[in-house]
Amino acid sequence: MTVTAVIGAQWGDEGKGKVVDTLARHADVVIRYNGGNNAGHTIQNQHGTFRLHLLPSGIFHPAAQCVIGPGVVVNPDVFLAEVADVERVGMPTVGRLWLSDRAHLIFPHHILIDELEEAARGGSSHGTTKQGIWPVYSDKAGRVGIRVGDLLEERHLAEQVAYLAERKSAVLRGVYRNEPVEAGELLAACTRWAGRLRPYITDTHPLVQEALRADRGVLLEGQLGVMRDLDWGLYPFVTSSTTLPGGASAGAGIPPYRITRVLGVAKAYTTAVGSGPMPTELNDATGERIRDLGQEFGATTRRPRRCGWFDGVAARFAAEIAGFTHLAVMKVDVFDSFEQIRVAVAYRLDGRTIHAVPHTAAMARVEPVYEDLPGWRCSTHGARHLGDLPIEARTFLRRIEEIVGVPIALVGVGPDREDMIYCQEGWA
Ligand code: GDP
Ligand code: IMO
Ligand code: MG
Repeated sequence: MTVTAVIGAQWGDEGKGKVVDTLARHADVVIRYNGGNNAGHTIQNQHGTFRLHLLPSGIFHPAAQCVIGPGVVVNPDVFLAEVADVERVGMPTVGRLWLSDRAHLIFPHHILIDELEEAARGGSSHGTTKQGIWPVYSDKAGRVGIRVGDLLEERHLAEQVAYLAERKSAVLRGVYRNEPVEAGELLAACTRWAGRLRPYITDTHPLVQEALRADRGVLLEGQLGVMRDLDWGLYPFVTSSTTLPGGASAGAGIPPYRITRVLGVAKAYTTAVGSGPMPTELNDATGERIRDLGQEFGATTRRPRRCGWFDGVAARFAAEIAGFTHLAVMKVDVFDSFEQIRVAVAYRLDGRTIHAVPHTAAMARVEPVYEDLPGWRCSTHGARHLGDLPIEARTFLRRIEEIVGVPIALVGVGPDREDMIYCQEGWA
């Protein structure tokens, strides 16, 4: 069987949730490996429409074991709310949803610090999701973080919480002129969470190892996309985790060489939420048309997403860094009414033509070089085979394959689980 890493190939929101929900019908184990509830992974299937922030998108396949890996940061209240949402439609969670005891916990002060820092930046804010992501990963790297497994270790927890409250209070008072955090309040939250999370908390290592040993189908679900990766994204307009397959390896606990397929998920165009360079952004009627037709509003914050043409330079760069073996191109149907479609094939930077993503400050200056392709002006919505697509749509997809340098395995032609074209053996 295969171990497939599902990786965002752009700025996030490429349709990873839909892809994982679709592929999970053949998966034994689905693992979320990075980020936290900054994610909004939309799934539309016979149970309804769901925006999952934390639970693996395989949760709607009762035979799949779903794991929140050590690389994830967990807001327990969001976790419990999502558990209630999926149980309401009849999906069992106890005995098949697992929370790594090594994952770090998001506390209310992480969210508060994220909000206060964004406010302090004023006009130059990063546009984070304000879910406490950088503060919790900072604590993790600073080795003062509190992990899920600590909830079940009372004495040890009390010591950790006392130190954390003291240090965070110093920051809140000194840097942000805010109220301190009380160790007692943190401990009370921990006690409440411990009781409710207990059935899900486990050492995920044996389960994952057993799946590898037995050669089961494993899906690794990424959060965000390569352009927001902490190392290779447009720093500082990035998130605080690794969105790459290397992050999948570490964040799930799977040796890199066991990952057999790396599926880059891209949209037929580009979107971004939050600040930072986006060379193909369209601040005009065409951008608005893409936003309307694609319903491009943030799944977590409901912010209108910035929209623009497919950025072939960024996508090829992502393919090289992440080593995509296959590509999924989603939302091709959004272009059904377009007469002409543009694709960026290079950038102009200070009088030179370049074909890779430069340092962020230079990225803010690049001008995209476009190639124009004819639209197809008919519905692709019900297409289930490549041959069902009009010739112009197939030409568009072939050109994306050439530009990115990766074969297309999946094509999205609508938001529903079934709205998918499988272009290759082994994916259907
Ligand atoms: P994720 O964060 O990568 O999982 O993506 P989001 O869920 O944030 O955003 C993708 C949006 O596009 C969601 O609203 C999906 O329901 C929708 N979507 C996914 N694939 C397709 C597709 O092929 N066509 C259309 N029209 N919508 C799609
Ligand atoms: P999924 O998994 C789109 C963006 C924020 C901000 C930057 C840092 O659904 O693709 P953070 O809260 O992580 O500190 O914000 O990253 N961002 C996302 N954009 N989709 C997401 O998740 C995102 N998660 C964070 O807007 O620019
Ligand atoms: Mg999303």
